[in-house]
Amino acid sequence: MSEKHDVSGVPTTGHVWDEDLADLTNQPPKWWMLGLTASALFVVVYCIYYPAIPLMSTFTEGIGGWTAIKEMETDKGEVDAVRGKFEAKLKDMTPAAILADSELTEYVTRSGKVLFGDNCAACHGQNGAGTKDKEGFFAPILNDDVWLYGGTINHLYEGIVGGRQSMMMANKDILSADEIDTLANAIAKSQPNSTPLFAEKGCTACHGEDGKGMQAMGSANLTDNIWRFDGSIEGIKRTINFGVNSGDPKARVAVMPSFKEAGKLSESEMKKLAVYVFKFGGGQADAPAEVAATPNPVTAK
Ligand code: HEC
Ligand code: HEC
Repeated sequence: MSEKHDVSGVPTTGHVWDEDLADLTNQPPKWWMLGLTASALFVVVYCIYYPAIPLMSTFTEGIGGWTAIKEMETDKGEVDAVRGKFEAKLKDMTPAAILADSELTEYVTRSGKVLFGDNCAACHGQNGAGTKDKEGFFAPILNDDVWLYGGTINHLYEGIVGGRQSMMMANKDILSADEIDTLANAIAKSQPNSTPLFAEKGCTACHGEDGKGMQAMGSANLTDNIWRFDGSIEGIKRTINFGVNSGDPKARVAVMPSFKEAGKLSESEMKKLAVYVFKFGGGQADAPAEVAATPNPVTAK
C-alpha cells in the first residue's frame, strides 16, 4: 500500500495520480493542530458559559447568567447617566452660553444631528444644504453664511422658536409690464439701483437703499447673485409680479413653522438645534456684550 514517493521520500497514501504526482502522508504542522484543539475547547467552554444550544421550546441558558437584554440595560444606564448630567446643565442655559461651552457644544452637536434629520431636513435638506424645486430653493440653505434673518445664535434660536414668514406684495396690478421688465433686468445683473425705479417704486423700503436686504424683514439681498427663488429673468419677473406669501395663487411660498407653537420640540431641543445649525459653519459671532445681555427668548416671555 504505502510506497515511498520517489522525489520527497515521504510515504504516500497509496494513491498515485501520475508518475511523481501522489498524495503524501505528511502530518499537519504543530501550530495548526494546537489551533484546532484550542478552538474546539473554546466552543465547549463558550457553550457551557453562554446561552447557546436551542432545545425544543427553550435553550441552554449557560452558567454565566448573561443575556443580551441585561447587557443592553447596563449600557443604557451608563449612557443615561452621562446624558442626564448634560441635559440638566442645558436646561438653565441660553443657546449663546451653550455655544460658549465647548464640551456642551460637542454633546449638543451630536444629538442635534438626529433632531435635525427628524424635524428640519425634509425642508432644509440633509446637513442644511437646502431643498430645491423648480421654483428655486423651497427652504433656504443653512450651511452657508448667507442669512435672510441673521446668523447669530440668537437669530437662529428665535427663528426655530417663533418660525419665519416674510412678505412681499404682488406687483402685477401696481407696476406696468415694462417697469417689471426693467426692474427684473437690473436685478438679474445684481444692480437693482441701476434703474431709478427701484427706489421710486418703493422696493428700497424692504430691500434697503443699497438693495442688500434687511434682516429684520428677511428681505433678500438683491446684489449678491445668490437666489432664494428662480434667478432667471423670467423667474425674477414672476417674484415681482406675484410676490412672496402675498396670498396670490402664483406667489412664492416661504413659511418656516414655529416649533414652539407646534409643541413638538422641548425648549432644550430647540436650543440644541440652534447650536447645531450654527455649527454648520455659517453662524455669525455675537458682539460679546450681546451674549451676556440677550435674554433667552423662550423663558423671557
Ligand atoms: C415646512 C418646511 C420647513 C421646516 C420643517 C423647517 N423650516 Fe426652517 N425655513 C423654512 C423656510 C421656507 C424658511 C425661509 C422663510 C422665509 O423665506 O421667510 C426657513 C428659514 C429658516 C431659518 C432662517 C434662515 C435665514 O436665512 O435666516 C432657519 C435658521 C431655519 N429655517 C432653521 C430650521 C430648523 C432648525 C428647522 C428644524 C427644527 C427648520 N428650519 C424646519 C422652511 C422650513
Ligand atoms: C414689503 C417688503 C418688500 C417690498 C416692498 C419689496 N420686497 Fe422683494 N422681497 C421681500 C422679501 C421679504 C423677500 C424675500 C422672501 C424670502 O426669501 O422668503 C423678497 C424677495 C425678492 C426677490 C427674490 C430674490 C431671490 O433671491 O430670489 C426679488 C427679485 C424681489 N424681492 C424684488 C423686489 C422688487 C423689484 C421690489 C419693488 C418693486 C420689491 N422686491 C419690493 C420683501 C419686499
